[in-house]
Amino acid sequence: MPVRPVLLFPDARLKRKCAPIARVTDEIRTLANDMLETMYDEPGIGLAAPQVGEAIRLIVVDTTWTEEGAERSPLVLVNPEIVSREGAITWHEGCLSVPDYQADVERAARVRLCARDLDGKAVEIDAEDLQAVCFQHEIDHLDGILFIDRISRLKRSLYVNKRKKELRREREEEQGAHDPRVEL
Ligand code: NI
Repeated sequence: MPVRPVLLFPDARLKRKCAPIARVTDEIRTLANDMLETMYDEPGIGLAAPQVGEAIRLIVVDTTWTEEGAERSPLVLVNPEIVSREGAITWHEGCLSVPDYQADVERAARVRLCARDLDGKAVEIDAEDLQAVCFQHEIDHLDGILFIDRISRLKRSLYVNKRKKELRREREEEQGAHDPRVEL
């Protein structure tokens, strides 16, 4: 199963609102497997389809595994929705699409999620703490929202400026390596 490249902020494809999945096809099963493979490879505990360039409502989550070899318990969720939320929790979040950055984000502490699995069966999960945070974070991706859209404007712009600088440096380095006009 191939690992797919994860799109990085500020890729415009991360901002799209994703379409519901009408029918689970073989193509979607393959995508779900690729997404799991990609998530474990990165490593991460959740991944949404838009992060690999597919604008459909599909997420994969596994909040229990660790790199040290704990057993994997992957969840593949089709058209996931939060149907109720309770309480508040602040979690220090990161994202595979937001390189080199973490920040505190406040979300609901407990949520009930409804979705379908790959066989079209209804799934209902009551989640709390990390799993609740992860569900909310991944479903945000399906609506084109990143966790940096949920922090203060100041913090966000500090990160965005840092990221832009990094990208500029990367570009300059690439050009420097290939541009024959550059004298060393
Ligand atoms: Ni993310």
